[in-house]
Amino acid sequence: MSERAIGIFDSGIGGLTVCKAIHDLLPGENIIYFGDTARFPYGTRSKETIIRYSGEITGYLISRNVKMIVVACNTASAAALDFLRGEVNIPVVGVIEAGVRAACKRIKNRIIGVIGTRATINSLSYVKAIRQLDPEIKIFQQQATLFVPLIEEGIIDSEITRLTVKNYLQELYEQGVRTLILGCTHFPLLKKTINDIYSDLDLVDTGIEIAAEVEKILKEKNLAIKDDINNKGTIELYASDITETLERLKEMFFGHNDTSITKLVING
Ligand code: DGL
Repeated sequence: MSERAIGIFDSGIGGLTVCKAIHDLLPGENIIYFGDTARFPYGTRSKETIIRYSGEITGYLISRNVKMIVVACNTASAAALDFLRGEVNIPVVGVIEAGVRAACKRIKNRIIGVIGTRATINSLSYVKAIRQLDPEIKIFQQQATLFVPLIEEGIIDSEITRLTVKNYLQELYEQGVRTLILGCTHFPLLKKTINDIYSDLDLVDTGIEIAAEVEKILKEKNLAIKDDINNKGTIELYASDITETLERLKEMFFGHNDTSITKLVING
């Protein structure tokens, strides 16, 4: 049993969907969330830079004595997870493994599609993780970087977004993809738009999957907080830059919540 917080980080505020999923499932747990908004996006950066940024944030979370780290960013999970695991002696989980396990369970026709940022797709992390579970599954990938700014601008239910969805997904759909991993923290906000066009696409939301994994690890390692329905966990939110649009995005990703975001610059 441990009252220490769970540390969660993302390149920006998209990881708040993961934070929310963990808080909904484990309301008693304390959470410290860091969004690297000043250095967002990670998806177009080199592996070396993503590892450096992720290492700096992990250093901060360790200084806050967290009991576990959740890399709530597909791009950072793809580039930096192995490095981070070698650096710290607490559990470090990434969104990729959780998403892959769920997709392999739900698959119907032995084909899985993956969409993510360019860095995530180029890393082949999803491909490797799927192959480890089942080498026979056919995998089709597509980078869908343009979804990120569209979502950030709130352009979700619009013709531009529908055209972009078709531009990225039509070929995958024609190749037979019916189980699609949303390999970027922003993409769950497009679930409805995607399913309005491709109603039989099963969309795997990695945020929901990782919450279940966090619960399992905390129990296994005897790190879960005392299970008490009166016990409400605290949520501390930090971001490296507070901009005008941040509050709007916070509400978009996190729902209406009174928790405020504090500026915190981490530069190694
Ligand atoms: N959190 C990032 C991801 O899941 C969002 C995009 C980015 O930083 O480029 O890949």
